[in-house]
Amino acid sequence: MNEKPLVILAHPMPKEWVAPLYERTRVVVGPDGVPGIHPSLEPYFPEVEGLFTWLTDRVDEALLDRMPRLKVISNYAVGVDNIDVAACTRRGIPVGHTPGVLTDAVADLTWALILAVARGIFPAAQDAREGRWGLWHATRWLGYDLVGRTLGIVGMGQIGQAVARRAAGFQMRVLYTSRTPKPAIEAELNAQRVDLDTLLAASDVVSLHVPLTPETRGLIGEAQLRRMKPTAILINMARGAVVDTEALLRALREGWIAGAGLDVTDPEPLPADHPLYQLPNVVITPHIGSATYGTRRAMAELAVENLLAGLEGRRLPRVVNPEVYER
Ligand code: DGY
Repeated sequence: MNEKPLVILAHPMPKEWVAPLYERTRVVVGPDGVPGIHPSLEPYFPEVEGLFTWLTDRVDEALLDRMPRLKVISNYAVGVDNIDVAACTRRGIPVGHTPGVLTDAVADLTWALILAVARGIFPAAQDAREGRWGLWHATRWLGYDLVGRTLGIVGMGQIGQAVARRAAGFQMRVLYTSRTPKPAIEAELNAQRVDLDTLLAASDVVSLHVPLTPETRGLIGEAQLRRMKPTAILINMARGAVVDTEALLRALREGWIAGAGLDVTDPEPLPADHPLYQLPNVVITPHIGSATYGTRRAMAELAVENLLAGLEGRRLPRVVNPEVYER
C-alpha cells in the first residue's frame, strides 16, 4: 500500500487555507507561539518528506541531517533568510517561497508607515485620546509634506516597484538602488538608479526592500544614517538586521534623521522595554507587512502548491534554488 507522504507543518494554519495538504498528505502540526521546529516533532524527522516553515523557523545543516527523506521545504514567506538554502541545494532539496502574492499588501503597509511617521499620526492621536487636544493650534503636531519630495527605494524588486508606483500619487521623484538596472521601471516611473550614498543623501523617504543576505546585513549603519537628511524618514520593510538597531536609536535620539517606520526589527520581537518604543518619531509594527486576510491565504495556497509539487517530483511553482533541477 502506498502511504501518503508525511508533512510537518511547523505551526498551526487555518485548515481551509491548506486543505489540499490534509487531503493528499499526512500532516503533523507543531505548536503555536514558539519559534523553530519544536522538539515534540522530532519523532517524525526520520520519516518526514515535506516541511512547511514560517520565517521564525531556522532550517540548517544539523536539522537537515536529521530528516533523511526530506524532499521539499516550503517557506511561508518570500524571504528565506531563515533557511540555509545552500545546504538544501547540496542535498537536492528545492526550497519554495511566496513572492508576488504579498507585493501589494507589503507596499500598502509601507505607505501606511510613511504617512504615519511623516504626519506624526500616532503621537497626535494619542494626545487627542488622552485629553491633550486643547485648542486647534498653528504649530502643534506639524509633520512633513510628501508631495514633490524624493523617495529612495533600496532594492527595486517587486515590492520596491509597487511602493514606487504608489509614489506617483504623491508626484514624488523616485531614486533606487538595485544590483541590476531596471530600464522598464525607469521608463514607467521616471525612476533613476543611483548608488546607495547618493540615494541616502538625496531622499526624503528611504524605504528598504532588500532580502537579508550576508551583503545586506547591517547595510544601514551609523555612516549611512549620518548621510541622510535631518528631515528624512527611514522605513524598514525588509528584515530587521538590514539596519544597525543601536545606530538607528542614536540617529533618532540625536536628530540625524526625522523619524522611522519599522515593520521589522533586530531583534524580533523587539522587547517591550526597548528604548525605540519611547521615541515619538518612531512607528513600530510587529512584522505585519503581508498580514491581510486575502494575502495570508494566498501565501498559504502558494506554499501548499510548492510543497505538493516537491512531494510529487514536479518543479516548484516558486522555487528559490532552481539549481536543484540542473543536477
Ligand atoms: C516575507 O514574506 O518575507 C514577509 O516578511 C512576511 O510575509
